Amino acid sequence: MKLIRKANVKSIFTLTICVAGLLILYFVEDKEAFINFFFIPTLLAGYIYGAKGGVLTAILSFLLICLISYTSLDNPTDFILRKGLLLGCFLVISGYIVGKLAEQITMTYFGTISALALAMESRDPYIYGHSARVAEVAVRIAKKLKLSKQEQNIIKTAGILHDIGKFGIREDILRKSSPLTSEEYDHIRQHPFIGVSILSPLRLLKDIIPYIYYHHEHIDGTGYLRKKDNQIPLGARILGVADAYEAMTTDRPYRKALSRDKIIKIFRNGSGKQFDKKIVDTLLDITGDLKSRIEAEERLKLY
Ligand SMILES: [Fe+2]
Repeated sequence: MKLIRKANVKSIFTLTICVAGLLILYFVEDKEAFINFFFIPTLLAGYIYGAKGGVLTAILSFLLICLISYTSLDNPTDFILRKGLLLGCFLVISGYIVGKLAEQITMTYFGTISALALAMESRDPYIYGHSARVAEVAVRIAKKLKLSKQEQNIIKTAGILHDIGKFGIREDILRKSSPLTSEEYDHIRQHPFIGVSILSPLRLLKDIIPYIYYHHEHIDGTGYLRKKDNQIPLGARILGVADAYEAMTTDRPYRKALSRDKIIKIFRNGSGKQFDKKIVDTLLDITGDLKSRIEAEERLKLY
């Protein structure tokens, strides 16, 4: 079960279609007509993996068509020259076009949610870019934990939008540099739930909802909703660590960015209490000069 969850569900789906296709081929009499089947995995691969995936699947499909021709047809060379080559070209072009379109949609999607996050952050110059950096750190942790590419993308989106609920928080509280009163703190604690109510109508984002809802939970049950350990989704635990790390490594109105030694001390003290120990270990393992590298190399990619 764990293995299936780890493997990309879409990859299993693509593989299932290919296997189903080969099974159908076995029973179909008109083998020539059947080769049109290969448009399905090619278009699907383009949609899931982009232009490169679409073209590679098209080439693989063409090789399979050649193989099927030589094992099932009376005059395979004639068939490949007459139809197979032309179909191969169509497959490559189709895979490329669908892949490019899918890439454009993904870029537009991430561009839109990044713009949403930046609009929220523009209300407080001190946190401008915070969400993009949290997303970057969270994805690096997810990669190190060997989570699937699909899960990494969900975590990235959740990182970009984790504080979107601050749209519903009063600006004077967001910008306040002195300690918050208990009433103000209660107000700011509402932001994960406001975020969920903002994003709930968007079905495309349904996977990130639990991560946003629980991103202020603590492993020992002392967070906003008093959830603990595995009651908190892994993605939310990763976001919690990435969020704290980003906050500690940037200047705030009331303090300067913390030193590496102090950050390590805070995370070690908070391990098993506020933070998931395994995620903290992973973060400290991959950091070092992470902050400067993210700012120098990666930040542009997110916008
Ligand atoms: Fe938050």
